[in-house]
Amino acid sequence: MDRYAVAGNPVEHSQSPWIHAAFAAQTGQQLDYGRLLCPLDGFAPTLKQFAAEGGRGCSVTVPFKFEAFELASRRSERALLAGAANTLRFDADGWFADNTDGVGLLRDIERNAARPLAGKRLLLIGAGGASAGVLGPLLAARPAELVLANRSVDKAEALVASHAAWASHYGVSLRASALDACGTGFDVVVNATAASLAGAGVPVSGEVLAPGALALDMMYGPKAQPFLDWAAAHGAEGRDGLGMLVEQAAEAFEVWRGVKPETASVLAALRARLKA
Ligand code: ATR
Repeated sequence: MDRYAVAGNPVEHSQSPWIHAAFAAQTGQQLDYGRLLCPLDGFAPTLKQFAAEGGRGCSVTVPFKFEAFELASRRSERALLAGAANTLRFDADGWFADNTDGVGLLRDIERNAARPLAGKRLLLIGAGGASAGVLGPLLAARPAELVLANRSVDKAEALVASHAAWASHYGVSLRASALDACGTGFDVVVNATAASLAGAGVPVSGEVLAPGALALDMMYGPKAQPFLDWAAAHGAEGRDGLGMLVEQAAEAFEVWRGVKPETASVLAALRARLKA
């Protein structure tokens, strides 16, 4: 049986094995998807051993997305733009790196939440690996404006610089900002910071939200709750990262198996499962 896994540290609470088992059952694919806990200084050897033992690919999570990108011998355009990978496929002629986070987020916003981004004003908070992975696909959706705000402005500026040509190609006004100077009245606000992990609360003012805005946190479960409460308190529609998680997984499944699973039923079942 073909083997896959989510590789990261930690991976204990990852929902990916459940999601990929659901996709496999739905599409009739025979595969085994598990968890691969990698020592912080031992990502490459752990993966090489997994591949030698029959692993065909893996999902990559914190903190190895940049290292996964470096390890591959071939990379998709969206992985190249992000400089990071969340999906590896172990091909006979070398490892292929892809990044499905951005398209996953985009599908969740545009299709699942029914919020087309074209012409809209978009605020992306954070400039770490999570933001790097999604910035390119968000720009390709042609919002009128995208402000990238971060605590350390230099990191936001670096990401803006590496995406400047891409933004201008899609006609998007892209700029970096400090957290307290990002502007007001955005149609869509995406939180890609680790602030809630640090128990630090939402790092921007409620004024960033236009009335009825969509406010999405890439986290889910209790970690997303402070952001969702903040969104509701300011008249916005809050959304957690569970839809993005399922959508990016569906795209990775297609990279490995050549079949695209249907996501709506899997997302609904996952929500029910986590609630129980
Ligand atoms: P990831 O790969 O998940 O993006 P990361 O690279 O460590 O993780 O990035 C974490 C992001 O959360 C960064 O944008 C970080 O801001 P800095 O670049 O200034 O470090 C942001 N972040 C973490 N804790 C925060 C806090 N308490 N308030 C605001 N932003 C925070």
